[in-house]
Amino acid sequence: MIGSLRVAALLAFVVLCALLLLLISSVQQFGAKLSGAAAAGDEEELLRDAFLCQLKERRRELIPLLHQEAGNEPSGVESRLLVGSTSEVTLGSTEAHLDEVGCEALVDMQALEVLGSGYTKLVFKASLAGGQSVALKLVNEQGVDMKRCLEEFKDPEGCWELVSYKLKKEMILLRKLQHPNIIKLKGHCAGVQGGRGVEAGRLAVILEWGDPLQMIQLLQSPWEDRFRVCLDLVRLLHFLSRSPLGSIGLLDFQPQQFVTVSGELKLTDLDDGSPKETVCQTDEDCTLQFPQRNFSLPCSAQGLCERRNEKRNIYNAYRYFFTYLLPHQAPPRLTHLVDHIMNTTGELTADVNQTLEAFEHILHLYKSGLHLDNIPPSILRDYTVMRGVGTSGNVDYRCWPSYSQHGCVLSVHGAKEAAHVCNSHSQCSSFTLTGQKTWTGRLLASFKRSFSHLVPDDSSEVYVKKSLETPSL
Ligand SMILES: Nc1ncnc2c1ncn2[C@@H]1O[C@H](COP(=O)(O)OP(=O)(O)OP(=O)(O)O)[C@@H](O)[C@H]1O
Ligand SMILES: *[C@@H]1O[C@H](CO)[C@@H](O)[C@H](O)[C@H]1NC(C)=O
Ligand SMILES: *[C@@H]1O[C@H](CO)[C@@H](O)[C@H](O)[C@H]1NC(C)=O
Ligand SMILES: *[C@@H]1O[C@H](CO)[C@@H](O)[C@H](O)[C@H]1NC(C)=O
Repeated sequence: MIGSLRVAALLAFVVLCALLLLLISSVQQFGAKLSGAAAAGDEEELLRDAFLCQLKERRRELIPLLHQEAGNEPSGVESRLLVGSTSEVTLGSTEAHLDEVGCEALVDMQALEVLGSGYTKLVFKASLAGGQSVALKLVNEQGVDMKRCLEEFKDPEGCWELVSYKLKKEMILLRKLQHPNIIKLKGHCAGVQGGRGVEAGRLAVILEWGDPLQMIQLLQSPWEDRFRVCLDLVRLLHFLSRSPLGSIGLLDFQPQQFVTVSGELKLTDLDDGSPKETVCQTDEDCTLQFPQRNFSLPCSAQGLCERRNEKRNIYNAYRYFFTYLLPHQAPPRLTHLVDHIMNTTGELTADVNQTLEAFEHILHLYKSGLHLDNIPPSILRDYTVMRGVGTSGNVDYRCWPSYSQHGCVLSVHGAKEAAHVCNSHSQCSSFTLTGQKTWTGRLLASFKRSFSHLVPDDSSEVYVKKSLETPSL
C-alpha cells in the first residue's frame, strides 16, 4: 500500500512537471503577441518553476537508491551528492573515499583521448601518474541532454546541474552494484576548489578503462571468445535479477553500453538501469513488446509485473547478443545444448537461473573435453611426437577463425583434438602445441603445411603425420 502511494505521488509529480512545461509553451506563444513586461515576468517565473520541478525529480530518483538497504546509511559522499540548493551544488570539493582515486591523481594525468560520447556523457581515456589507464566520465556539454535543456531553460549553470544528476546516479549505482561484469568505479573528483557556480559543480567519475565492444570484430573471432561474451552477459543478468537494489532492467541494451577488460565483458553505462518493476492492474499492462515478438506476463496480486525486468533482459540478450554470437561454429557435440539455449531464451521459457546453469554446463563440458569422447585415442598413432622442440622455416596455411593472422592457430583440448583437426585439413602435415592457453585453459595449437627444421623449445611439442614421413625412414 505504501509502495503504491509512493508511486502515485511520483506520478503526480511527473504530471505536474509536464503541465508546467505545457503552460510555459503557451505563455511563450502568448508572450510573442503581447510583448508585455508582465507576460515576460510570468514566463520567467514559470520557467524557473519548471526547472526546479525537473531538478527535484532527478533528486528524488536518487533518494530511494541511497536508502534501499535497510540499516545502511548513505555514505558521506553520497549524502553530499544530494545536498545543495538549486543555485549552488556543494559536492564536498576534492574529498574522496579512502581507497579511491581522487582529484590529486588527476593533477598529473596525461594524454587525454576521447573514448566515446553519448546523449549525456563524454568519456576520456587518461593515464595516471603510475602509468595506469583509466576512463574519465564527464557531462557531455555538446550532448543531446544538455542541448535540449538549454533550449528549454536557457540557463547553462542550471542545465549543467540537471544533466550532472545522471552522472551522479550512475556513480551511486556503481558503488552499490559491484560485480566482475560491471565496470569498476575507481573514484571521483567533484568540484574545483574555490570555484563557483558551474566550476564548483564539475564532476569527473573515474572508472576502470576498457575496450569498446566491437561487434564486427567479435563476429570474426573464435567461438570460444564469442561464448565468453554471452556467458559474461548471463552472469551479469543473473546478478542484476537479484541485486542489492532489486531486480534491475537494462533499458538500453546496445553493444555500446559494454566494454571488455582483458576479454571480460563489463557493463559501463548504468544510468539507463531501472530497479523498478512495472506497476499493473491487469495482465495486459505487463505485455513485453519487441519488434519481432510480444510476450504476455502475469500481473501479480501486489500489482506488479512479476519478473518483467529479468525477462526483458533475457530476451534482449537473445536478440542483441546470442543470435549473432552463439550458434555460429559452436563445437559439433555442443550444438544441441546451444540450440536449447537459443530456444529457451528466444521463447522466454527459462528464467535467468536456468539460463546461467545451461551456460555453465556448456563451459564445464568444453573445458573438460568431455564433448570430445567420440574421438578415439588411437588417432594419435598416426603421429610422431617430439617434446621440447618447436619448428622453424614454417610453411603456414590459413584457416578460419584463426588466433593468428598469418597461420592456422586454433584452440584444442589436447593432442587428440588437434590430431582430429589436422586430419580434417587437407593442407595439414604437422601441428605444434605451443603451451599458450586461452581463457578456458585450452591449448593453442599451430597447424602447418610443412617446416624445415626443429629448434629447442621447452614449452612446446611437435606432432608430425607419419604417412607424410619419407618412406626411407
Ligand atoms: N570505462 C570505459 N572504458 C572505455 N570506454 C568507455 C568506458 N565507459 C564508456 N566508454 C565509451 O564511452 C561511450 C559513452 O559512454 P556512456 O554510454 O556512459 O555515455 P552516455 O551519454 O550514457 O551514452 P548514451 O547516449 O548511450 O546514454 C560508450 O559508448 C563507450 O564506448
Ligand atoms: C505486439 O503488440 C502490438 C500492440 O498490441 C501490436 O501492434 C504488434 O503488431 C504486436 N507485434 C507482434 C510481432 O505480434
Ligand atoms: C523453439 O522450438 C520450437 C519447437 O521446435 C519452435 O517452433 C520455435 O520456433 C523455436 N523458437 C526459437 C526462438 O528458436
Ligand atoms: C535463483 O538462484 C538463486 C541463487 O543463486 C536462488 O536464491 C533463487 O531462489 C533462484 N531463483 C529461482 C526462481 O529459482
